[in-house]
Amino acid sequence: MRTYLVTGGAGFIGSNYIHYMFKKYGDEIRIINVDALTYAGNPANLKDIENRDNYTFIKADITDRAAIEKIFAENDIDRVVHFAAESHVDRSIEDPEIFVRTNVLGTQIMLNCAKKAWENEDGSFKEGKKFLHVSTDEVYGSLSDPEDYFYETTPYDPHSPYSASKASSDFIVKAYMDTYKFPANITNCSNNYGPYQFPEKLIPLMINNALNGRKLPVYGDGKNVRDWLYVEDHAKGIDLVQEKGRLFETYNIGGHNEKQNIEIVNLVIETLLELLPEDDERRKNVGKHLITYVTDRKGHDRRYAIAPDKIRAEIGWEPETMFAEGIKKTIKWYLENEEWMKNVTSGDYMKYYEEMYKDR
Ligand code: NAD
Ligand code: TYD
Repeated sequence: MRTYLVTGGAGFIGSNYIHYMFKKYGDEIRIINVDALTYAGNPANLKDIENRDNYTFIKADITDRAAIEKIFAENDIDRVVHFAAESHVDRSIEDPEIFVRTNVLGTQIMLNCAKKAWENEDGSFKEGKKFLHVSTDEVYGSLSDPEDYFYETTPYDPHSPYSASKASSDFIVKAYMDTYKFPANITNCSNNYGPYQFPEKLIPLMINNALNGRKLPVYGDGKNVRDWLYVEDHAKGIDLVQEKGRLFETYNIGGHNEKQNIEIVNLVIETLLELLPEDDERRKNVGKHLITYVTDRKGHDRRYAIAPDKIRAEIGWEPETMFAEGIKKTIKWYLENEEWMKNVTSGDYMKYYEEMYKDR
């Protein structure tokens, strides 16, 4: 039975990936999820699978070398899928240090522990072992020409502390591949949306604020563009890259689904009004009057867009969920999981929100 070590599996994309993998492979695989349970990690994201015999959760920090070494020593790991990271740009602008620590040092520690566990005496690696590093399109910087796209060959040009830390982690992975022929892949994906996303990111933040009648804070002129991908399509892409991709290659994952932020906010409001029953209390809060333009994010990248030509040609992956359908599914999920939202927005969240938005 193949054993996966997933890092950051209690977060947004990691938990969706674990759900996807059990749906696809059932009892054919075993998954060990290593997560430090930071503010972004939530065991409730995995409630329905936590009692499976072929699933194990280990609370550990990826920068804790001894803890990670122990996991490799006690388990014959076949695949690593590395999601764990600090992931929010605004937080990285406020406090870059933890981003360097987790994203750069944490990735190097993951790589080195896997290398030690998988290396043969002659410096080659045991058959079939693979490491996949999950990264972002933000490493490529901001596109100014509206006809231009990010390709795997686009030079790195990160601007935020977050994207700089992810770019650094990608380079560390590349260094392990080039220096040791360490069996790895890198995927660079565009903005994800879907269930279990923490409401510090655009879509769940707007859903939650609208339902509570709070202002919808649109940064700058609202015309920054992101390329949105339904999270399950990303999970599928990651699995396909690990199964069918060429080792040592980078694959960009994205959807040719570019939207301005203000289009997203309008669509969230319209979809909420469409889905909320007439007699639902929350309905009276929702409306476009909530939209408020606020001070722009520092160094705000204008446009991200991926041309997923390589993954389509080599692996046959394509985004399957059209945006209109994906956003409806997502909003429905948030409406049906009010408790989940209540739990993640209790405690420190409101403090974060006040701090982050008070001067905007
Ligand atoms: P997230 O913030 O929702 O989840 C991160 C997870 O990592 C959490 O469960 C957290 O507890 C865990 N974690 C953080 N620091 C840790 C540490 N030191 N040790 C162990 N676990 C730790 O992030 P996400 O949106 O699910 O993103 C997952 C990965 O995908 C990240 O590497 C991110 O850079 C990348 N990515 C995200 C997007 C996106 O749109 N969200 C797009 C492309 C790539
Ligand atoms: P975000 O979800 O933080 O993802 P990223 O910065 O990694 O792309 O933000 C998506 C876009 O939405 C980005 O251009 C910033 C903008 N944004 C707002 O306008 N208001 C908000 O409150 C947030 C969180 C984001």
